Amino acid sequence: MTNAKMVEYYAKRAAEYEHIYLKPERQEDLKTLQAKLSGCFKGLDLLEIACGTGYWTQFACRSARSIVATDCNEPVLDIANRKHYGDCPVSFQIENAYALENVKRLFSSALVGFWWSHVPKSKLGDFLRILHSKLCNGAYVIIFDNRYVEGSSTRIHRADEEGNTYQIRGLSNGSQHEVLKNFPTRSELIEWIEPLSNHSKFTELDYFWIAEYTLRKNAEQGVSF
Ligand SMILES: C[S@@+](CC[C@H](N)C(=O)[O-])C[C@H]1O[C@@H](n2cnc3c(N)ncnc32)[C@H](O)[C@@H]1O
Repeated sequence: MTNAKMVEYYAKRAAEYEHIYLKPERQEDLKTLQAKLSGCFKGLDLLEIACGTGYWTQFACRSARSIVATDCNEPVLDIANRKHYGDCPVSFQIENAYALENVKRLFSSALVGFWWSHVPKSKLGDFLRILHSKLCNGAYVIIFDNRYVEGSSTRIHRADEEGNTYQIRGLSNGSQHEVLKNFPTRSELIEWIEPLSNHSKFTELDYFWIAEYTLRKNAEQGVSF
């Protein structure tokens, strides 16, 4: 799987990425997410996917026992590496979310922030299979992402034949980038997640959705190293 254009877009956006977290209308929801992440990984070893600049790692480290945070982009990990994570052992690793090749152990939890929306619909199954292959049976997983909100979200400018939607985004250097950004419905999320989980919970805030579940692994999802 190559998503080279998106990878390049996020590399170029690295220094300005966290501006997105300053949007005034999203502050209340962001506080809810921050509080959630600060407490939900108690005693768990966390694998973070597409961690970017470590914005959410900063909150996860308040409760996780340890964190391996991954992203395919060096410029964002350079920024993440400069943050402080208290007493929690945090390491950053370059990994393609569709392969996680060098993740060589099983984790008891996973965090996937603002990544699901960038996965083409036809690749969601592959992504979840790879992610789950790195998790223990019963692992706690939290996934969250944007809801489409008129006036706050960047407008969708087209859809492709499989229903993926795209936005045109600008960076401060004036460059323009077309970025795949999907806004799944609650029932689409349930359809993906319920069959793979023992317990699941779906929450809709005004600007974000949150899916939490405990993984139910079957024999085919197992992995041997
Ligand atoms: C929307 S940002 C989310 C960053 C972070 N999770 C957050 O919420 O602040 C998406 C991230 O996905 C990363 N990314 C893009 N393609 C990737 C891939 N194939 N594997 C891993 N990370 C990828 C980008 O480098 C970027 O950091």
